[in-house]
Amino acid sequence: MDRRGFLSRASSIAMGAGLVGGYGVFAAMAGRFLYPARPSLKGWLFVIDVASMKPGASLTYTAPDGATIAVARQGLTGQVGDFIALSSTCPHLGCKVHWEGQNQRFFCPCHNGAFDPSGKAIAGPPKEAGQSLGRYPLRIENGLLFIEVPLEGLPGQEEA
Ligand code: FES
Repeated sequence: MDRRGFLSRASSIAMGAGLVGGYGVFAAMAGRFLYPARPSLKGWLFVIDVASMKPGASLTYTAPDGATIAVARQGLTGQVGDFIALSSTCPHLGCKVHWEGQNQRFFCPCHNGAFDPSGKAIAGPPKEAGQSLGRYPLRIENGLLFIEVPLEGLPGQEEA
């Protein structure tokens, strides 16, 4: 094979590979559009007996998927509005935040990030980036506090 023939064949192979790759990416994107990922299954899980959590107290709840959640009691009424459940993973770089009752804020020690009692960023890199803490729904039934979380990780909830 002469040089011209070799270059012609090599460029044809490269063009063919490019077309196959391009159509492959298009097919993958079309597949994701036509068959979106299954939404995660959520459920209500028990957290604590409402009476045993004093105003100003907080606890760390670990969801079945391994996410850690700060659950804090901020009021005295005994209603669900007294409680808040926020992701304890800082949206900046993923360090753990904790509730500081005396300062009425969630604090991230890694870069002095701070969040108000509702999880809104008020200081540090999360404030500059407008990143708040993720919030989880809560409800009270018969004096017991429940949280709605993804159920992946619970026995019997694995993907088929
Ligand atoms: S990781 Fe929380 S402020 Fe940087």
